[in-house]
Amino acid sequence: MSRLDRLPPYLFSAIDRAKAAARAEGRPVVDLGVGDPDRPTPPELVEVMAREVADPAGHSYPAQRGDRGLRSTVAQWLERRYGVQADPDSEILVLIGSKEGLGHLPLTCVQEGDNVLVPDTGYPVYGQATLLAGGEPREYSLRVANGFRPDPADWNRLADKRTRLAFANHPHNPTGATADPGLWRELADAAREGDYVLVNDGAYLEVSLDGSRPASLLAAVDHRESRVLELHSLSKLFNMTGWRIAFAVGNADVVGDLARVKESMDSGVFTPIQKVAQHALGQRFEELRAEVMAPYAARRRVIVDALAAGGFEVFAATATFYVWARVPAGETAAAFCARALAEQDLVITPGTGFGPGGEGWFRISLTAADTDIETAAQRLREWR
Ligand SMILES: Cc1ncc(COP(=O)(O)O)c(C=O)c1O
Repeated sequence: MSRLDRLPPYLFSAIDRAKAAARAEGRPVVDLGVGDPDRPTPPELVEVMAREVADPAGHSYPAQRGDRGLRSTVAQWLERRYGVQADPDSEILVLIGSKEGLGHLPLTCVQEGDNVLVPDTGYPVYGQATLLAGGEPREYSLRVANGFRPDPADWNRLADKRTRLAFANHPHNPTGATADPGLWRELADAAREGDYVLVNDGAYLEVSLDGSRPASLLAAVDHRESRVLELHSLSKLFNMTGWRIAFAVGNADVVGDLARVKESMDSGVFTPIQKVAQHALGQRFEELRAEVMAPYAARRRVIVDALAAGGFEVFAATATFYVWARVPAGETAAAFCARALAEQDLVITPGTGFGPGGEGWFRISLTAADTDIETAAQRLREWR
């Protein structure tokens, strides 16, 4: 079978079709499906972009590893925000969104017949990128009993001599689960013993709703001693999903290998976007972040209260803008979400869209206008 043919089918196509049909019928659909912020990029960042885009200096091919100014700002930001020291020249690499970095990572180390540990449930790209590189994704379970965190014993059992990479993602899409420094150290130990690279997809590290600070892999594990990498993204952090900018930080060998793959595949991020990122991660970071995150805690409360009133069990999480809740007993996730659309004009995501481990669960995204959140809450409350 070709690598392309090994890619799994797109699991949301049935929902997408039903959603389009409901909208075509003029039904008042509220979409809490996609994790794409409803609000615009902060105006201050748009102004920086307008200024930068007018400067012809930014119109040519960008610097391959990312603008030196941005990489130094990232280094200072990592030190201030996470207490992590990283060398801007060898340990930081600018990405065209974290998805790009995830997509390219298996190409750095996976040969035909190698395998990669990926979370079930999880963002589908880890497994898909592994398949496209010719590798075999090996799913490790994230169980509710373990707070949807990886169990290092599972990694030890699944890994073998052909394991090259393990992907983790905390804070986690879809559950919102966070790791802690002790767990990061245990996972890094497992990876070191198994001689594979540990990557944390930290796309939601800054999306916390209660002022708490989710644990970063790099803050817990010395990347100069272990082959670890963490990806940070400005997408969800600054309502910039369409702009495409993120960065990888970590072990110089791993960063260097990823840079080599990227040199063959892309030409970096449009320089004005990098200038915007530099501004956003600079002295104004705290204020800008607070402004973007402000609506989510209240939205989460509204939805969680409505789910509780409707008798749904909700997984307690304080990070990401997702709510993860249990499907009523006796119903599959797909059937329940189809019914939410048919009976309540609500688009929500079946847990199985993130792997078989998501059976029995559904995800609500809080990235919809406050009025839509209120409407959805009312429908959920009255439904059961
Ligand atoms: C867990 C996770 N990682 C990565 C991404 C991709 O983010 P980016 O916009 O930085 O490519 C997403 C997007 O939904 C995600 O949910």
